[in-house]
Amino acid sequence: MDIGILTTRNHRYHPNRRFIEAALRMGHRPLLIDPWKCQLVVGHNGGTMMYRGKGFPHLDVVLPRIGATIEDYEMAVVKQLELMAIPLVNGFDSIAKSRDKFSCLQILASYGIRVPRSIVVTDCRNLVKLMWDLNGPPVIVKLLRGRQGTGVTLAESLQAVEFVLNNLSGFGDAALLQEFVEESRGRDVRALVVGGEVKASMVRQSRGEDFRSNIHLKGVGAGIDLSEEYRDVAVKSAKALGLDIAGVDMLESRDGPMVLEVNYSPGFRELEKVARMDIAESILNYAVNMVKGEQS
Ligand SMILES: Nc1ncnc2c1ncn2[C@@H]1O[C@H](COP(=O)(O)OP(=O)(O)O)[C@@H](O)[C@H]1O
Ligand SMILES: [Mg+2]
Repeated sequence: MDIGILTTRNHRYHPNRRFIEAALRMGHRPLLIDPWKCQLVVGHNGGTMMYRGKGFPHLDVVLPRIGATIEDYEMAVVKQLELMAIPLVNGFDSIAKSRDKFSCLQILASYGIRVPRSIVVTDCRNLVKLMWDLNGPPVIVKLLRGRQGTGVTLAESLQAVEFVLNNLSGFGDAALLQEFVEESRGRDVRALVVGGEVKASMVRQSRGEDFRSNIHLKGVGAGIDLSEEYRDVAVKSAKALGLDIAGVDMLESRDGPMVLEVNYSPGFRELEKVARMDIAESILNYAVNMVKGEQS
């Protein structure tokens, strides 16, 4: 099959490299597609797309792999692929729901999935009341579309919250204030859901004092035998957002799993090491079988 990876990165980027290796080994033809080299065309015949000024290559399936920072133009490319009836893993709607942390939490909460209490703010008004409501300070302050831990901070005082919010201009006009789940400081659980099943999981532990456990901030992963309860929550979260592939981040709160966020194009370098499995192959297998299922 012709398998497209929609990405702004090159073949050396870990997930891309792994997808290419796995696809070739499985006898498929992988192709990295740069959304910024796609030209969207609409006319009275509907929509199509050119690639680098030429006809769009034949693709049996596409994996959008742009991450939480996916821009509106890149979303339009995803939409166009969908309108061209190319099967997507994951599709436009599910990406639109999960790319922004608050929209993700909104949907999860509406499905009865436990999430940390969170408030969207656009300025510093009523902060004293909001702190009270979030049982802080300390509270967590987040950018709506941060990734790899870079847009998340722990504010220890009201002044710190104010300082962070006042310095967020240029990062979009809203931020998320969130209850700090102290008991899971520096630790979270990542579950990879593929096609409604948890395929691999790990617990991530920060090194040193950082309250964030992101691998990109030198956190380390370790194997974990995920309980039924955590598996269930991960699968339900992916389903609520309509995601075929999902990296579900959960905190181990006193009262059980709490979903922090769901990533629609999760990285898997650490998880492949920890789980000792070929995650690229597992994702591609799902994509290929999905297409075969649709064709038959
Ligand atoms: N409400 C919270 N309570 C405790 N720790 C948190 C909370 N929110 C985030 N963290 C820590 O910060 C890390 C990054 O937060 P997350 O929301 O997953 O953002 P990112 O998209 O940058 O990974 C999490 O993996 C977790 O370790
Ligand atoms: Mg995260």
